[in-house]
Amino acid sequence: MTTNKKECETKKFRKYNIQLEQIQRIHYQDPKVNELIKNNQPVLITNSSLVKSACEKWNTDFFEKYLGKINHTVYLSNDHNFKYFDEKKVLSETNPKGVEFTPKTRRLDMEMSEFIKKVKEWKSGDERLYLQHTLNATMGNAIVADYVKFDWRFAGEIRQKNNWGELTSNVLFISMEGNVTPCHYDEQQNLFAQIQGYKRCILFPPNQFECLYPHPVYHPHDRQSMVDFDKPDYSKYPKFKDVKGCETVIGPGDVLYIPIYWWHHVESSMEGGPTITVNFWYKGSPTTIEYPLKDYQKVSIMRNVEKMLLEVLQDPKEVGPLLRKMVDGRYTNP
Ligand code: OGA
Ligand code: FE
Repeated sequence: MTTNKKECETKKFRKYNIQLEQIQRIHYQDPKVNELIKNNQPVLITNSSLVKSACEKWNTDFFEKYLGKINHTVYLSNDHNFKYFDEKKVLSETNPKGVEFTPKTRRLDMEMSEFIKKVKEWKSGDERLYLQHTLNATMGNAIVADYVKFDWRFAGEIRQKNNWGELTSNVLFISMEGNVTPCHYDEQQNLFAQIQGYKRCILFPPNQFECLYPHPVYHPHDRQSMVDFDKPDYSKYPKFKDVKGCETVIGPGDVLYIPIYWWHHVESSMEGGPTITVNFWYKGSPTTIEYPLKDYQKVSIMRNVEKMLLEVLQDPKEVGPLLRKMVDGRYTNP
């Protein structure tokens, strides 16, 4: 089971003013798939059986029947954006070093049946909901049975051929129509497998760092872009005008490879009911220092420099002036 390009084009998604190319859609048996993965280039893999066992069954009725009483992590938001934040970086009594921060989303533990009821009864003006829960053995036999029937050989071969590290988790995403996960990057390789409904994914390579203005690493929104795609503030973020990315729409059976450190913005179609995705997060390959360095390795270096300076200076406000003093007139001229 997989979707074709025509089906995808008819779905309703948000309008953004960004230059985008199309991500290639390639049959899972085509050697070009691995060629792209090897080079850390995104690819939409069609016709694989990675999550076929789930595509045929997993929908809200099925989850209600088999997972009704089990608690799941649900995020709530007053608008369509669900911008992730790291709770460990927020100022609190137990974390005096954290950042003062008022989150725009909140996290709740909710029974699956309650979540589904709220989604079904949702009306404009209500808080939006987004379930994001790591799959594990407590999910019950029905889910586990389909989970073990995932095409682990297919995933394992990709992992092996590209020397990725271990599988760290599979997150189950159940989204309301029109929810958005704003632009961010993760420090893991991702096979993003669509099960129900349609999602549009906009990706940017790691070298678009300057155009996407990530929050500083100490901030709860670390790894997230500061630019609001709905209303970009070009005076604050002028290089966002030049950002160049690629996009695709994924439907049931499609698997999108999101390379490590690649930026991604994910939105569920505004029609057609809730969407369901399971991702496969793998550790990257062990670092080999070969020159020229890859763009994502440079992002990793920047993160480490930033972390080191924060650690020794003990005050985020000192990082900028110190770097400027070090660079201006010394490393800024050819
Ligand atoms: C991911 C991710 C967001 C979503 O899998 O890394 O960012 O809304 N998913 O599916
Ligand atoms: Fe992500």
